[in-house]
Amino acid sequence: MANTPPTSGPDGSRRDFLFLATGSGLAVGAGALAWPFVASMAPDAEVIAAGAPLEVDLTPIQEGQIVNVFWRGKLIFIRSRSETEVKEAEAVKLSELMDPQADSARVKEGHAKWLVVYGNCTHLGCVPIGHQGQYEGWSCPCHGSLYDTSGRVRRGPAPTNLPIPPYAFLTDTKIRIGEEGGKAVA
Ligand code: FES
Repeated sequence: MANTPPTSGPDGSRRDFLFLATGSGLAVGAGALAWPFVASMAPDAEVIAAGAPLEVDLTPIQEGQIVNVFWRGKLIFIRSRSETEVKEAEAVKLSELMDPQADSARVKEGHAKWLVVYGNCTHLGCVPIGHQGQYEGWSCPCHGSLYDTSGRVRRGPAPTNLPIPPYAFLTDTKIRIGEEGGKAVA
């Protein structure tokens, strides 16, 4: 299975990368595209339909990269945040936010570097572009909503933050999307 969803680099460029679901859990480099990505499952159609958890190896994702994966047919961004980005996201006052939520409530404890959010704008569902806009999180090309590096909406018309999918860290470098508290999400 191969898809070419958009992703973006820390320099703000927009590139395509190769998404491959493999049977081996092996990292798949995208060759000249230079955006490695891992998907560790080789789900057949029935498994996909059932929304089985998706394991993602974070090892090949470099600081500043945003990687796109799909789970239950929905786009999910996995963003490796720099220390500066984390500090800035943590320092934002809740009173400045349209949909107030602390950064710490949007990441897993001890893993603030990693932001995992659904990848569709909460206005009408367009795909925001990473590393764009005043807050350097995402900018939605459809009607101009801006998100920060925590995926929190900072300028509408989007009404709410990018939602967080259910996921858990299996190790420091591997997450399983579709699982919380050690159990698969029904
Ligand atoms: Fe993103 Fe309208 S769909 S601002």
